Amino acid sequence: MNKVYEKLLKSYDSIKEKIPFTPKVALILGSGLGDFAESLDIKGSIDYNTIEGFPVSTVAGHKGRFVFADVEGVPTVIMQGRVHLYEGYEPTDVVLPVRLMKMMGADILFVTNAAGGVNYDFKAGDLMLISDHISSFVPSALKGENIDELGVRFPDMSDIYDKEICGLIEKVAKENQIEIKKGVYLQTAGPAYESKAEIRMFRILGADAVGMSTAIETTVANHMGMKICGISCISNLACGMTDNPLTHEEVKETADRTAPVFKKLVSKIIGELGKM
Ligand code: HPA
Repeated sequence: MNKVYEKLLKSYDSIKEKIPFTPKVALILGSGLGDFAESLDIKGSIDYNTIEGFPVSTVAGHKGRFVFADVEGVPTVIMQGRVHLYEGYEPTDVVLPVRLMKMMGADILFVTNAAGGVNYDFKAGDLMLISDHISSFVPSALKGENIDELGVRFPDMSDIYDKEICGLIEKVAKENQIEIKKGVYLQTAGPAYESKAEIRMFRILGADAVGMSTAIETTVANHMGMKICGISCISNLACGMTDNPLTHEEVKETADRTAPVFKKLVSKIIGELGKM
């Protein structure tokens, strides 16, 4: 059997008894949203370090566990802490949690992240609906022998971020008087922030925001046929757009400041996703 698939099945086998319900939505929490689950009625949780073969996140401030909770009445599995390429994991390990959440039954993936604004119309603290992505600067987790049980060898990528859900997110934001921008997310491998020349290049290529996660995850989710949506918190303007050097503290500080509005929006959106 395909080694990556064998590992995935083993991981799933090691937790399947502990999954309290079949989730409809899988939510990945980015920087600043880490405590989203704390205010929910938690039905169960599984610590990453108890899952066989699971890559355990090392980033400070990221708690590593799956949380199961109803969000606005919708059964949701939440990744509290994600896995990044820059931690040194194989691409297939970085996406193992996304594949697990699909195996648990989630058919909608909702990704969130903190990202640098590349578009000059953006400012720190903005929220951006992800309309498309550029993953060309990171390795694909689909390389190697295809896992036919999950999806096809050459998956179509023309509509990664579900148009209907994107429309619904814009509607929910409007109804709640939350301003939301829209744009293309570009993933780098990190962990270094970009150089000024790289940001100029990314802008020419059509990126509106840049970050170190997400595209690798949504690519495999699309491979598995999940419906996908995502929102970035623009935690800073990217390198060269202001005079200040970039720090992880600034990213965290803005993400934390934006978190209350972001959390409200995420909850309301999941409420609507439950009706799909
Ligand atoms: N670049 C890359 N990743 C990021 C940034 C950035 O400016 N801000 C938050 N994550």
